Amino acid sequence: MLRFAVVGNPVAHSKSPKIHSMFASQTGLVLEYIKAEVEPGEFESYVKAFFADGGNGLNITAPFKEVAFSLSEICSTRASLAGAVNTLFQDSQNKLNGDNTDGKGFVTDIKSNLGYAIKDRKILILGAGGAVRGVLSGLVSEAPQRITVLNRTVSKAKQLQQEFDSLLPIEVASFTDIANDQYDLIINGTSMGLRGETPPLSPLYLAPNCCCYDLMYANNDTTFVSWAKTNGAGLAVDGLGMLVEQAAESFNIWCNIRPDTVPVISELRQSIA
Ligand code: ATR
Repeated sequence: MLRFAVVGNPVAHSKSPKIHSMFASQTGLVLEYIKAEVEPGEFESYVKAFFADGGNGLNITAPFKEVAFSLSEICSTRASLAGAVNTLFQDSQNKLNGDNTDGKGFVTDIKSNLGYAIKDRKILILGAGGAVRGVLSGLVSEAPQRITVLNRTVSKAKQLQQEFDSLLPIEVASFTDIANDQYDLIINGTSMGLRGETPPLSPLYLAPNCCCYDLMYANNDTTFVSWAKTNGAGLAVDGLGMLVEQAAESFNIWCNIRPDTVPVISELRQSIA
């Protein structure tokens, strides 16, 4: 039997075991996928023991994505760009490989599931933390017209601008000094929704038919999705599709089969509603 786990702290909320068990039923693979809550000082030993014991793959969630990146002996380009790893596996030489499927999951959800083009769009990103890094690493190959990153702490946005400089046209600003413009795609990557807050953004920045995308998801509309609907967004969606798409990308890395994500997203949506 194939063995997988998602490692985080906390991890009780994770939907990954449910998603991967749906992928398994769909593809006919027999697998076990568990949640592993480990203490920060025990992450490395957990990972080593898991693979030494014949485990096939790990998903990594907060707060371990950066340490997983530094533990990886071989990293994909997108994981190096994000500076974070959400997928681990061992290759035939028993080397620990790290990948990051978050950006690809985001792009696939936007393009394939929502039918929204990214090329030549003006994109506004709210926040400059780990979630935004993952998204930027996915946007690198999508040729948007321009990306503006707004962050409360502007120095963090500037850091991202420097790191992605040769790959993506990024401008940075704070919530109070953003220039007047309109954006086709606005992505909320702040953690404000966890406290029921919305980023302090004027609706004047939404272009007609603007797509507002919250990297978080919730049982009902997130505060950002509600804000976007109230303020006339053409499309207002949460990150449940991205969650399933990044999982499908990990599943493909481990098992070499791309599951059909559409029925999984709709079943998950119904089960959390
Ligand atoms: P994650 O890994 O989920 O991205 P994170 O790295 O802690 O989490 O990033 C959280 C993001 O939400 C940051 O961009 C943070 O802004 P700062 O860099 O200034 O901390 C943003 N954020 C959190 N609370 C906020 C608030 N009250 N107002 C504005 N931005 C906020």
